[in-house]
Amino acid sequence: MATSLVLYSTLLAFSPFSFSQNLLTNPGFENGTSGWTLAGDTSAQFTESGGRSGSRLAHWSSSSSYTAETKQTVTGLAAGTYRLSAHTVGGETAGAWLRAYCDGQNFSTPIPSSPWGSWAKVTVDNIQVTGNSCEVGITTEDSEWTSIDDVALELVSSSGGSEIVIQENAAGFCGVDGSIDNNHAGFTGSGFANTNNSLGASVDYSVDSDYATSATLDFRFASASSRPANIEINGSVAGTVNFNSTGSWASWANESIAVALRAGENTIRLVSQTADGLPNVDSLTVVGNGLNPGACNPVPDSCTGMDGDGDSLLSCSGEPAVCLLGGGVGSYRVTMRFDARYSGGLEVFAESRRRMFTSPQQNTSADRCADFLVDVRDPEGEPYQSDHGTSGLNLRITKGSVALTALSADPVTGPKTLFIAGDSTVADQLPQRYAPAESRYTGWGQFIPTYFGNDISVSNYADSGEGTAAFRTDGGGLWNKINARLKSGDWVMIQLGHNDKTTPASLYRSRITNMVNAIRSKGANPILITPMIRNAGDPLSAQHIWGDLNIRNELIGVANVQNVPLIDLMKLSSEWAERIGRSAAQAYFVDNDRTHSNEVGADLFAQMIISEIRQQNIDISDYLRNP
Ligand code: GCU
Ligand code: CA
Ligand code: CA
Repeated sequence: MATSLVLYSTLLAFSPFSFSQNLLTNPGFENGTSGWTLAGDTSAQFTESGGRSGSRLAHWSSSSSYTAETKQTVTGLAAGTYRLSAHTVGGETAGAWLRAYCDGQNFSTPIPSSPWGSWAKVTVDNIQVTGNSCEVGITTEDSEWTSIDDVALELVSSSGGSEIVIQENAAGFCGVDGSIDNNHAGFTGSGFANTNNSLGASVDYSVDSDYATSATLDFRFASASSRPANIEINGSVAGTVNFNSTGSWASWANESIAVALRAGENTIRLVSQTADGLPNVDSLTVVGNGLNPGACNPVPDSCTGMDGDGDSLLSCSGEPAVCLLGGGVGSYRVTMRFDARYSGGLEVFAESRRRMFTSPQQNTSADRCADFLVDVRDPEGEPYQSDHGTSGLNLRITKGSVALTALSADPVTGPKTLFIAGDSTVADQLPQRYAPAESRYTGWGQFIPTYFGNDISVSNYADSGEGTAAFRTDGGGLWNKINARLKSGDWVMIQLGHNDKTTPASLYRSRITNMVNAIRSKGANPILITPMIRNAGDPLSAQHIWGDLNIRNELIGVANVQNVPLIDLMKLSSEWAERIGRSAAQAYFVDNDRTHSNEVGADLFAQMIISEIRQQNIDISDYLRNP
């Protein structure tokens, strides 16, 4: 399986002492007291020469009944921890302070006496700023006096805006395959999550993010043995946390990982990689920007509108359950109901290993329903395949079949359809159940249906070994198949190039342009996609260039000239591989194959495409399943 991948992550800056510049105006009083506000006994505040350099501020209160203040309000501060410092000389021991007043809180340090000629540095540490402004300055009272120079306010560490701590049974905590215990000392909150000792045992959380961002997940845990775990974000593995032994169940430690979060609700799932289960988990701290605890049932598909009679359960058997629903070629609406008492994940595939639905652990008070449209073809997978698959509609429920209480499948005519034109890296490859998931050839077209809701059907005509020739509008066999079904309002994604190694640039350009025109002439919508990289170590600029044909440049060119939405998967995947390194990236491809993705790779590329659809706000985003 995938190893520690940090998707789109840039580590947030939390280094403890990355001092930035002084944020004060006229900090050394070289311009007198300009920039500073004098208050109280102002007759006793003035600048004079003899500072550490240039001028200094002479500051006292002229009698025991007066207070003197020199202060400055600083605005535009990032949330975080700050340090205020000043150099002082002279002074007495009681009644003089360096202070900061931020967000209703006072932070101060007394100014000690120091002999004339010997400047001492006074600091106020650990000033917490949560708003964006602070008042800082010097106060003297009761006839105390001192001279001050070189005042500085510096950012020590930025908190990046927000940090949320999710405790067991509090907002954002969505469940544990096990129990909440409190029998080992040292936990925070009301206890800790203790999973069953089994492979795949999990703890689930939900975090709501104001925008797509990177965040650091910091787990506080204890374990008498090492218990490595996968982190799944929104249903996909995003990395691994080692959870090394802390020595005993009462010794707590922290391990963290950077992950990418999307805008809106995110499911965060910690899944045990071994039969020992997870360590005991005390809390999860999420550090990033614009974060809040999320809701625990982020896909609240309602059961009230469930179509059909739900009585097709008898078509299912085995574990994972296989449901053979019969019927002929065409589109079907499938609706499934899962029992509320079930608290594991859900995952459903249809036809030739197309993933139709996935959802993290359920923890609901009501039943959970899911529905989606399935496009049944013959052959059910790649159009030019000799293995036709299983005739009729078939489902495979890889997670949650024990909780299935109702199942309906009803034919629908003429649903909105997303067609896909592509090659083996896109195709509905065979199930290959004899091979482990990491060695199964899998096209992104097999995982992209997961991300669409119940009012669009995905029909994937990608086929191994095919290029623009098969999709020529003047006689391409696969174009003819799409064109026979294409209607107004439909969508066509095109990712072609891996198999155009002998196509001249001008021919490639005209074939793509012709497809775009033919799609539009039917009132349908094209989307161009540059092919994902081959993981052979080449930079983006050297990917997919055959003779005079530079696939990426041609697609960008057609997109510009024809004003077609373009998803630059080549660039996204190139940046991703550079970020995690070529050998880590290879875990997303089949064994040593540089070209073909396995299941996690197909899902990753599908997610890159989906996230671009959202970011570019391409109209098909209306059909995405709500996160
Ligand atoms: C012990 C310990 C538990 C822990 C368990 C485990 O029983 O008391 O808190 O969860 O071991 O091995 O997971
Ligand atoms: Ca346990
Ligand atoms: Ca706790």
